[in-house]
Amino acid sequence: MRINDQYWERRFGSEGMIWGTEPSPTALEARELFLKHGVRTVFVPGAGYGRNTKAFSRDFIVEGVELSETAVKLAGEWDPDSLVRCGSALDAPEEGELFDAIYCYDLLHLFLEPERRRLVASCLSRLRPGGLLYFTSFSDEDPCCGRGEQLETGTYRYKEGKYAHFFSEDDWKAHFSGTEILETGALRETLDGATEGLHDYMLRTIAARKKG
Ligand SMILES: C[S@@+](CC[C@H](N)C(=O)[O-])C[C@H]1O[C@@H](n2cnc3c(N)ncnc32)[C@H](O)[C@@H]1O
Repeated sequence: MRINDQYWERRFGSEGMIWGTEPSPTALEARELFLKHGVRTVFVPGAGYGRNTKAFSRDFIVEGVELSETAVKLAGEWDPDSLVRCGSALDAPEEGELFDAIYCYDLLHLFLEPERRRLVASCLSRLRPGGLLYFTSFSDEDPCCGRGEQLETGTYRYKEGKYAHFFSEDDWKAHFSGTEILETGALRETLDGATEGLHDYMLRTIAARKKG
């Protein structure tokens, strides 16, 4: 079971740049980490309309993949320096250059466990040995955690037509057990959505290195 693939297409179609144009503070933190480690190329799965790719495209060569065609079009206008293709981040590429780093904002929590594992594996397959990854996801400290029907441990249908996995620190360790974890963090992020208005989310972050 997966969130209706049309959900995002519908939202981007009716709301456009849903979360405004400012990048997440986590994108700025990831950019600093990537600059410190001499990263040249960055891959962004679930790139949306380029709100966060734009934080990277001045300093790095940036590519992304995004499910919603409308978001891909918006990304081409908002951040023409990044190359965002339409497709699923769950699919591992058969060939292609390996990236130095991956930044993945609030995509992983959208899936049930088998697909979360698949997304992490697909991302690792796009990363060169020693490459860096920086992920964010909903936190189990978010007030929505525990709301609605429980679909699996830590995953709730917290809104009509929408579910998410709310990550604990142990979840990070379990999902990224094959990597060298550099740092984990937590933050409250405020988004100003066109339809939702000002909205706070509790997020978790992880920075890790693919083992060589
Ligand atoms: C919560 S939004 C985050 C958007 C974006 N990362 C940002 O920073 O603004 C999740 C995004 O993931 C996209 N998405 C959902 N499932 C996907 C998949 N299987 N492959 C690629 N993108 C996907 C959605 O269309 C949406 O743009």
